[in-house]
Amino acid sequence: MLRYPAGPFRTRSREPRVPDSPVTFTAAVVQALERHRAQLADAEERAARVVELARRTLSAGAPHDGARRLAESILHTYDSDSCRPKRAYVVRDARPEDGDTVIELLGYIEGFEDLGDEGARMVRESFGRCPCPHHADAAALVAVDDADRPIGVLLGGAPVWMLDGPDNTPPHWLGLTRRIAHISAVAVDPEHRRAGAGRALIERAEHHFRTSGRRLVTLLHAPDLAPYYDALGYSVQSHFVAFLGQALYREDFHDIRMAFKPLDPRVRQTPVMGLPAPMISGILEDNAPPAGHWWFDGERLHH
Ligand SMILES: CC(C)(COP(=O)(O)OP(=O)(O)OC[C@H]1O[C@@H](n2cnc3c(N)ncnc32)[C@H](O)[C@@H]1OP(=O)(O)O)[C@@H](O)C(=O)NCCC(=O)NCCS
Repeated sequence: MLRYPAGPFRTRSREPRVPDSPVTFTAAVVQALERHRAQLADAEERAARVVELARRTLSAGAPHDGARRLAESILHTYDSDSCRPKRAYVVRDARPEDGDTVIELLGYIEGFEDLGDEGARMVRESFGRCPCPHHADAAALVAVDDADRPIGVLLGGAPVWMLDGPDNTPPHWLGLTRRIAHISAVAVDPEHRRAGAGRALIERAEHHFRTSGRRLVTLLHAPDLAPYYDALGYSVQSHFVAFLGQALYREDFHDIRMAFKPLDPRVRQTPVMGLPAPMISGILEDNAPPAGHWWFDGERLHH
């Protein structure tokens, strides 16, 4: 038998909220949805800002252990969020009228925050119109939203990091610079991140460079982005070592990382004892080392 508590019951009578017409009901639902969408967009923007801050904290080499651990755990939580929707972004060549938006997007990259007039002019000029043969296959790409407005940008072309190469520049240096493409900038609007725009831009650039005869694509990035480029199939190193027959071309990077990806099956990476990174061969014609074990004594390669 059910026993009820003694005493007077107090009941609250509430008018059921029945909308007076389907029209007001629909309007109320639409309003509520819009409110939620705005709240979600706001939350995503705040999260993107926190993530950006965490990334900058790590790339600045946070001196405080607690700050570094906190930044790492923020990035880990964000990276493991698999619920972010992916979409197929349209990627197209940048046009002169995209200039202001592109320059704004480049501002998200450390070091590109203030390009100045000269920098902005150079970016605009890189929009596929440079007549210089060395830049003939330069890429200036944008990923656009449904209104054809750029939400991501990628600039690339000649391997600018090689242009002031080491003093011992080997004879094949010029050939190398013609076979290597470099992505000098890639940035996505924080509101559109983790939805596939960056990947779409990079894959399109790789296709462009491959079809224009480049055998290797490189880019330089902050150490905390290593997992990102690793997931895109890049090899992330602090050194670049290329095999050139009789000589090696080597560059060392200290605070930044070099990511590279072969665009041609002739390009190989061989681990060599005595070298700090795999030796890359096949960038030039007939430039494959004979099979077998190799080692480097600090001056010469031995087989
Ligand atoms: C780096 C950047 C371009 C990535 O763009 P994005 O559109 O968010 O990247 P995507 O959505 O295409 O991500 C592709 C993959 O990498 C992962 N990823 C994205 N950012 C990552 C990060 N910081 N660390 C690890 N993985 C990451 C995504 O989860 C996704 O994996 P999935 O397809 O398996 O889910 C963007 O974060 C950015 O503009 N950063 C500021 C500018 C900058 O630092 N540019 C790089 C230096 S030039």
